Amino acid sequence: MSPRALFFIVCVALGALVAGLYTSWSGALWLVPLWLTFVALGVYDLLQKRHAIRRNFPVAGRLRYLFEAVRPEMQQYFVESNTSGRPFSRQQRSLVYQRAKNVTDTLPFGTEADVYAVGYEWMNHSLCAVHPPEQAPRVRIGGPACTQPYEAAVLNVSAMSYGALSKNAILALNRGAKLGGFYHNTGEGGLSPYHLEGGGDICWQVGTGYFGCRDEAGNFDPVRFADKAQSPQIKLIELKLSQGAKPGHGGILPAAKVTAEIAEIRHVQLGKDVLSPPTHTAFKTPDGLLHFLAQLRELSGGKPVGFKLCIGKRREFLAICKAMLATGIAPDFITVDGGEGGTGAAPLEFSNVLGTPLDEALIFVHNALVGVGLRQQIRVIGSGRVISGFDLAHQIAIGADLCNSARAMMFALGCIQAQKCNTNECPTGVATQDPALVRGLVVEDKAVRVHNYQRNTVRALVELLAAGGMSSPAELRPWHVLRRVSPTAVHHYGEMYEYLAEGALLAEPLPGSFARAWKAAKATSFESATPGG
Ligand SMILES: Cc1cc2nc3c(=O)[nH]c(=O)nc-3n(C[C@H](O)[C@H](O)[C@H](O)COP(=O)(O)O)c2cc1C
Repeated sequence: MSPRALFFIVCVALGALVAGLYTSWSGALWLVPLWLTFVALGVYDLLQKRHAIRRNFPVAGRLRYLFEAVRPEMQQYFVESNTSGRPFSRQQRSLVYQRAKNVTDTLPFGTEADVYAVGYEWMNHSLCAVHPPEQAPRVRIGGPACTQPYEAAVLNVSAMSYGALSKNAILALNRGAKLGGFYHNTGEGGLSPYHLEGGGDICWQVGTGYFGCRDEAGNFDPVRFADKAQSPQIKLIELKLSQGAKPGHGGILPAAKVTAEIAEIRHVQLGKDVLSPPTHTAFKTPDGLLHFLAQLRELSGGKPVGFKLCIGKRREFLAICKAMLATGIAPDFITVDGGEGGTGAAPLEFSNVLGTPLDEALIFVHNALVGVGLRQQIRVIGSGRVISGFDLAHQIAIGADLCNSARAMMFALGCIQAQKCNTNECPTGVATQDPALVRGLVVEDKAVRVHNYQRNTVRALVELLAAGGMSSPAELRPWHVLRRVSPTAVHHYGEMYEYLAEGALLAEPLPGSFARAWKAAKATSFESATPGG
């Protein structure tokens, strides 16, 4: 029983005593039904399974719903932040909550967006609109060297470890993935029994800590890796180089969240922050990275392998591209995480000012791969504040093939953006290891919500495309998304950004915007090949 539930019971007992004494002294009998109502509500809240906050904070948790109900009227007095790297707006969260609950998400009364505001984005419909296909789109991941390609959904669960999230959250995400046929990324904490218990498709992320596949000294252990990677539930292997919220930092799991079980799964010490190093020990160079990926592919029995990164120095990514050409080894996918990405714990400056935002990063990665003629065989996955069907369309139009989402999936689990992921006090049981709070998150209920959210959002994408005359996300191009760049000017993404021609980096003259970084990149080192490059 949670301390809050205990507190509620003590309040009930004390209140009953005071009310009883007061009633017998003054004859104020009306206090009795009032008190009984309070008790009944509290007991009901404790036992019901749909609202984590009410389960964890009986009666008191209801105030949140009361405030939520009056908020639309109060909104004119409060302005909520809605920009990258900052909290999600009430509207964005509501969209996820409604889709997760399968509640109708149509709007009465018309467009709410300020269509004349600079930065407003939209897509155009077509007079040749088509019926949306019944089947949700799938994208094949697996290049020529992969013997077990995977048909991925266009929206999947982004990396979030068991440790950052509770076991109930992991179970619900994985069962949701199973219900909806999408994949669930383990995060750098690696595989846990809760990933496997859910039965859903898994992308196993291997970070610099090599959790779950490390030796005593913390280095990569091929035997442990191969052993786990055979699990038929594991469909993809992702090597984490960096993430948008803290690029160049390495993972942090605060000591408060390191339980004995997590310490055992990760093979780390109890009672200490778990800090994974900022870079890998298994390789040091671009070609070394590719040989390591090839090793992972082989050890896994030919499953698709890829890496995740937030784009920093362009030269370094181009060095990896050069190494692909030099070694003949290409990843099956690359996950591009925008600088606006989320995390369970990170220093403020790392979250807010390090790393390339998703739009620029995706376009750059897409261009680099087109430029070296490898775009066709490498899938690009985008992550960074993807919430709606339009967000999916936007990322796919400008350079991605599919997307991952972390925080929207947390909202589907019931996260209220309390922003306590790093304190072990998450009130909804999503990002805590406190068993009293974890109990509030009911797996069966939230698994269905995760599934609903993913399905309804992909459906929204498919319907948007159909209105534009398209039957598949693969038809999306940069010119399908338009942006107001001044009160009187509108550009599409193909006009705002440069898109390279196939093989443009393989022959002179090099595109001007790439020439310097391309010349400075070398396959054998992340250092610059040119002085000052
Ligand atoms: C609680 C939490 C834990 C995360 N843990 C990881 C992790 O272990 N590995 C990783 O690559 N990214 C991690 N991320 C980043 C997400 O996978 C994702 O890339 C980023 O949040 C952008 O997606 P979003 O805007 O949909 O949240 C985490 C994010 C959150 C919110």
